[in-house]
Order: sequence, then C-alpha cells, then structure tokens
Amino acid sequence: MDGFLEMQNLLSEYQQSHLLKYSGELTESERKELLEQLQSIDIKEVLKLYEKAQTSAGENKICDSKMRPVKVEIEKDLNESLLNEYFSVGLDAIAQSQVAVIVLSGGQATRLGLPYPKGMCPVGLPSGKTLFQIQAERIRKLIKLAKQKTGQEGRVIWCLMTSEATDLLTDKFLKQNKYFGLPKENVKLFKQHQLPCFDFDGKIILEEKDSVALAPDGNGGLYKALKTSGLLKQLKESGIKYVHVHGVDNILVRVADPIFIGKCIKDGIDCGAKVVLKTDPKEPLGVICQIEDKYQVIEYSEIPPETAESKDEDGQLKFSAGNICSHFFTLDFLERVSNDHEDSLGLHIAKKIVTHVGPDGDKFRPTSPNGIKIEKFVFDAFVYSRRFLAWRVERGTEFSPVKNSDVSKTDCFPTARRALMALHKKWIESNGGEVKGGAVEISPLLSYGGEGLEEVKGKTYGDRDVLLADEERADDSPTET
Ligand code: UD1
Repeated sequence: MDGFLEMQNLLSEYQQSHLLKYSGELTESERKELLEQLQSIDIKEVLKLYEKAQTSAGENKICDSKMRPVKVEIEKDLNESLLNEYFSVGLDAIAQSQVAVIVLSGGQATRLGLPYPKGMCPVGLPSGKTLFQIQAERIRKLIKLAKQKTGQEGRVIWCLMTSEATDLLTDKFLKQNKYFGLPKENVKLFKQHQLPCFDFDGKIILEEKDSVALAPDGNGGLYKALKTSGLLKQLKESGIKYVHVHGVDNILVRVADPIFIGKCIKDGIDCGAKVVLKTDPKEPLGVICQIEDKYQVIEYSEIPPETAESKDEDGQLKFSAGNICSHFFTLDFLERVSNDHEDSLGLHIAKKIVTHVGPDGDKFRPTSPNGIKIEKFVFDAFVYSRRFLAWRVERGTEFSPVKNSDVSKTDCFPTARRALMALHKKWIESNGGEVKGGAVEISPLLSYGGEGLEEVKGKTYGDRDVLLADEERADDSPTET
C-alpha cells in the first residue's frame, strides 16, 4: 500500500511502531483508514509537544513561588454615571458592528457525561431554553438596545468554536433552530484541532486496532483554529475590533457585556478577564495573578493547595481573583497571539481515562486514568497583553456554570437554574413587582440585564412563570425541535 513502508519506518524511528501492531489483522479499507489517520498526524511535531508539555508542567510548579496577587477593578465600587458611560461606549461598538462573540464549545463535557454538546442541553427552565438559545437571545436583545440608543442596526458575529466531538451536532442543532433568530450569515462555526492521547510512557494510544485516540487540543486551541479556519481574517475583513470569548457553560454569562466592552475600550485594554471573588480555596476556579510583570491564570488543577489556601493580612484568600472564563480581546491582540505566539503558548497535561485496545486486542475502558491529554489554555495568552484588566463582577449576577451531573449538587443544572431564577426574581422586585411561590424566568429578549421591566410594577408572579418579549408572545420566534 502506498506510503505504508514509509510510515513503518517513521514510526520505528520515533518508537511508535505499536501503532501498526494490528495492521496485519485489518481489512484493506481499515488499513487504509489507519494509514490516512497516521499521515494526517505530524508525528515528529506531536512528540515534540509531548516533551514540551512535560517541561511546561515542571515550569508551572516553579512559577508558583513567584505568584503575586493581581490588582482587580471592582465593578460594584464604581459610580453609576461611570458604569452608564461604559455601557454606552459598549453599545456604540455593537451598533457599529465592531463586536464578535466566541463561544468555547469544543469541550467533551466529560464531567457531565452528556452524549451531545453542553450548549444543546435543555437546562430544565420553565421555557425549555438551552444555553445556546439563551446566549443567542442575549445577543439579539443587545442589538435592539444598541439600535434604540443609536438608531443604527449593528450586527454581532456569533462564533462557536467546536471540535470533532461537537461540530456536526452543533451545526445541525443551530440549523434546526434557525440560529435562534440570528441571521445565518452572522453565525460562524469553526473547529479546533485535535491531538493524540499518550500513555504514561509517551506512546501514542491506539483507541481501536485501526484508529488512534485523539482529543481536542484544549480551549487554547482557539488561537490556532482562528487562524487555520480563516475566521480571524473574516472577522478582520468584517470590521470587527473587539471580541468577547466565553465558556459555553455559564448560564448567567453577560454575552458581549457592553459595560465590560466599554470599560476595555475606554481604558485601551487589549486583554481583559472577568473574575469573581474566590472564597473557597478548593473551588475549581483558576486564579489570576501576576508573575513578574506578566498576567497569568494558575489553573485550579495546578495550584498547590498551600498556595490556594494562603491568606493576606486581612485573613482573605491571597489569590481570590477567580477566573470565570469570560474574556475581552481586541482583534489586534488575537491576531498577534495567533500569528506570532501560538507556538509558544504553555502546554498542560491532564491525566484522563482513555479508551484503548486492551491486551486481548479488544476495546477497553479503564476505570482510572491511563493516559495523558495535552491541552492549551485560552488564558495562557494573557502573558502577551500590553494592557490587561482583571474586572471583578458579582457572582449572583454573572456566574453559575454547569460542570457536573445533578448528583454532585454543585455547578450543575439545578444550581444554574436556581441562580438564573433568583436573579430574575431580584429584577422583578427591584422594578416593584412581587414573586410568590419561588421561581420566575425572564426571556433575554425581554431584558438583557434587568432593564425594561417597568411593566412588572405592582404585579405578582407565580411559580415557574415565564415573562416573554412581545415577539415571542406573537409566537414568531424560532421553534425548538
Ligand atoms: C475553566 C477555566 C478555569 C475557570 C473555570 C470557570 C480554562 C482552561 N479553565 O475551567 O480557569 O476557573 O472554567 O468555570 O479556561 N473547551 C473547549 N475546547 C476544549 C476544552 C474546553 O472549547 O478542548 C471549552 C469548554 O467547552 C468550556 C470552556 O472551554 O466552555 C471551559 O472548559 P472546561 O473544561 O469546562 O474548563 P474548567 O475546567 O471548568
């Protein structure tokens, strides 16, 4: 077969001959598929990455002694007129079509154990909306608010970073749901890359006799994918200047938050990160810190417990700037990182359970980690920022992620639902309405952040009521299938 001998030699040169161990048992077409897959992997390059990841892991530990708390700006400490000014600058940018949003949705949701992308999962809200729908509707509302303010109908480009595992399903779901009312041409899917999984001896793992185990290259795969997919170029050509990047799993995410965007524009920030106050050192939140003159996030999985627990003179956690995976970037910054620094981004190692061909030749899923996934992290680009902002927001209004299955009782669908409905109850009460009997949900098309709810004054809402925008009441909204 064409190229088989060369592959045999290459693999032998890099001590990876085991990848062809079963080639004699394969049918002609299986052998062809395996060969094609191996040819699509730059073996020399991925082994270099493996070596580099081992060194990076060591370096992460060394960094620990140099960590300093970061200076954080606290949104709630600012006066209303300043916040209004930022809001207004942010809305102007939206009206001028300068804003894009990137949803990081290439993760495999292993902790949740979902067979499909997290964004597609019905959260269990009275409205039946999914995370994708809520996020798309927040964008639609912002476009309206920006138009009301400026008279100009801007467009926000909604980009979803998918992976081999999530791409087809996401694409189909969005099509079925008519992009939740966003114009199709303003919704862009782009796929992140994959890397082979390794065993603890640096051997690439065979998932099946005819295929290598591959996994997405981490949410820091964003920078490479932006470039190789051509999206970076498209965004630039479309006049985009500012990008909000966020994780798919935060039900409260203030998508393209005009206050955050406006603040960053006004202050000439090229890279900003929202944080919440971390009070429990064990909470799985990376912490933003400074190492020498650079900004970095030390991930919760990599910070030594004694550092996570260390306190300042007031008895508060020394590293309390909890990263919520909600980042502002200028397009220039993204371009700079993607073009000039992508190769030097840090690498991280996650020990994971990887299905592989067992000793008897059958597919086997161990119960404890047997493999290594190499990942890049989106925040590792912060070190390239020339003007950085850590912006602390309120947890109750901005952060409630879905990470775990319902049984875990933390960061799961029930906690996310409760957080969303508690926030909406507050909005109703602050507008002179009343909520009796618990929960109420407000459509993002009616209110982005608690504004425009004058109609609730003097009214009482019951359990699981949903307040809709006129356009939804008229039932011309996209339908779920
Ligand atoms: C992430 C942050 C962590 C933060 C926490 C807050 C990173 C690396 N870590 O941790 O600092 O405190 O959120 O909730 O950002 N994703 C991809 N492709 C991948 C892997 C992940 O798109 O290959 C996406 C996920 O779909 C998700 C986001 O990135 O939307 C965060 O990934 P996840 O694995 O959930 O990160 P956490 O460990 O929760």
